Amino acid sequence: MSILETRRLLWADEAACESFAQSLAALLRRSATPVNASIELHGPLGAGKTSLTRHLLRALGVSGRIKSPSYAVLESYALGPEFAQVGEVSHFDFYRFSDAREWEDAGFRDIFAAPGLKLSEWPDKAAGMLPPFDLQICLSVHDDESREVELCAGSAFGLTLLQALEGEP
Ligand SMILES: Nc1ncnc2c1ncn2[C@@H]1O[C@H](COP(=O)(O)OP(=O)(O)OP(=O)(O)O)[C@@H](O)[C@H]1O
Ligand SMILES: [Mg+2]
Repeated sequence: MSILETRRLLWADEAACESFAQSLAALLRRSATPVNASIELHGPLGAGKTSLTRHLLRALGVSGRIKSPSYAVLESYALGPEFAQVGEVSHFDFYRFSDAREWEDAGFRDIFAAPGLKLSEWPDKAAGMLPPFDLQICLSVHDDESREVELCAGSAFGLTLLQALEGEP
């Protein structure tokens, strides 16, 4: 698939990751149309994919426990009425995903076909099944624990997010 535009950011610490998540949540909430988006989260073990997702879910009003979907593959969150434009959030972790039949049997195909926000850790493990992403976020860890962040837009909606995020502090 083609990448429309790429941006690089640096998160000096986890507070920077949190403030990025808050900006992204605000953009999604203000979306002109109901959100139907896939965001891929790339990066090695411990890069911060789940941390970013947790900060995003908190910023989208999720107050209960936010589990890492490592074992279940999927954790789903229904958002409050303030976040109606975002609808449901599906947080996938495909690290242990190996059975292609599960894609159909567990209803993942249906989730990706439906509106809502789909966040995927280890999307490469479900390559060939995942639809094209709207936004890809690639994290890498520096020696000082800061995170290098590469954002790639894969759709018009992803491009809108990427360009709006650029303007945030
Ligand atoms: N700038 C930062 N952004 C995100 N996380 C950070 C940052 N600095 C430190 N951390 C810490 O790094 C760890 C990231 O762990 P996390 O579980 O989010 O990684 P992950 O990418 O989901 O790994 P896995 O592939 O195992 O699922 C957390 O303990 C988090 O507090
Ligand atoms: Mg994780």
